[in-house]
Amino acid sequence: MTLHVDEVDLADLDVFEQGRAWSMFDVLRRDAPLHWNPEPPPNKGFWSLTRHADVVRVTRDDETFSSEVGGANLEELDAEQLEARKSMLETDGVRHRALRRLLQSEFTARRLAGYEVFLRGLTRATLDAALAKPSFDFVEEVSAEFPIRVLARMLDVPDEHTGQLIEWGNRMIGNSDPDYADVLLHSEESEKYRLLPFRSPAALEVFEYGFELAAKRRGGDGTDLVSRLVNQVPEDGLPLSERDFRNYFLLLVVAGNETTRHAISHTMKALIDHPDQLALLQEQPERIPAAVEEFLRWASPIYHFRRTATRDVELHGRTIRAGDKVVVWFASANRDERVFDDPYRFDVTRTRVDHVTFGKGGPHFCLGNQLARMEIRIMFEELIPRLTSGLAVTGPVTRVRSNFVNGIKKFPVAVPAGDEREGGEA
Ligand code: HEM
Repeated sequence: MTLHVDEVDLADLDVFEQGRAWSMFDVLRRDAPLHWNPEPPPNKGFWSLTRHADVVRVTRDDETFSSEVGGANLEELDAEQLEARKSMLETDGVRHRALRRLLQSEFTARRLAGYEVFLRGLTRATLDAALAKPSFDFVEEVSAEFPIRVLARMLDVPDEHTGQLIEWGNRMIGNSDPDYADVLLHSEESEKYRLLPFRSPAALEVFEYGFELAAKRRGGDGTDLVSRLVNQVPEDGLPLSERDFRNYFLLLVVAGNETTRHAISHTMKALIDHPDQLALLQEQPERIPAAVEEFLRWASPIYHFRRTATRDVELHGRTIRAGDKVVVWFASANRDERVFDDPYRFDVTRTRVDHVTFGKGGPHFCLGNQLARMEIRIMFEELIPRLTSGLAVTGPVTRVRSNFVNGIKKFPVAVPAGDEREGGEA
């Protein structure tokens, strides 16, 4: 049954929880490339852009499509909220560049190469522990633990803190999911937390944790991310305010945690659903580094980010007015048939996979993209050879209730007999 444009509602979280967003993206790309989506009050509604070319155009033009004027998420914020919750992600222009440059050199492929040995050891330990069990939850045992441990290393905090960091991430990013949020985004109670990122009280705990680390490292000669943040002055000469520090720290905890986790879970699910692709990578593991780009396209862990138009713009025969919310749907662009041949085919042999999973060439292009790529590559270089008789899904795979992160919450799997031994020797 073909969907009609009038049936599309990308503000409806049920759509995402039930996996129905993809057919809505398809109809918008085909029939309504610029689509007005009403929202329940107090929000005013937003424009959706779903084609690859439009997503690229908007993310590259930060003068016309600002991240600062209204923030980067769908929630509509007043001036006080915008000011309190602002991070690099919600800053444009010179200040944005200065904030980004503070840590940019820490995230280059060259610098990250220094973590390769640590990462591989961590991956092996994670997989050995998980695959030694006859059945386990893939998210809990593999995907959730792994990215946050890398971040813990970059922040130079003890491994024992990772459980706490994961829980904070879940509560904040899952602010629209009753299984994760202690205070739901649209609830009356969340008014108390309106000045906090994600309206989540978990943010207060993250701030406190960050301030403690900062106090210990200020004036020292550490090379971890916190030391770099507290001991460097941005290139525009304006030192980091308390707000700048706490929101930067929180952004790192959230951004480096949830997204990579979901990329790993979606890839594992795709390899289970497409055993021919798994077999191909087992026969030719040298293909894995290139296949990471298809993994990323397929997974699309971030559905969207938001911009605000700073002037009237004509697009696809309609007018976006200055002040309107404009949503770029990265996930949809990654299924654009104008760019990807047979986009719903998971094909690890695709070449030049021009995905927009991290954005595309604009000023906010994901700072952690090389880290995420490396984590995913090492994870599957280690995992794929161990799955000689595959991995079986043993129960319902459930999604995070969100139109922001495309996340897998529960992913119960079982290892067919014999795999653990082979895995252990790999
Ligand atoms: C598969 C994993 C990841 C995905 C899908 C992802 C996705 C994204 C996207 C789409 C943006 C652009 C936001 C915009 O245009 O407004 C972004 C920005 C960002 N990401 Fe990632 N990310 C991932 C992993 C990471 C990691 C591991 C880190 C490291 C801690 C990280 C840190 C950041 C930061 C700091 C920004 C803001 C950059 C800026 O505003 O200049 N991300 N990410």
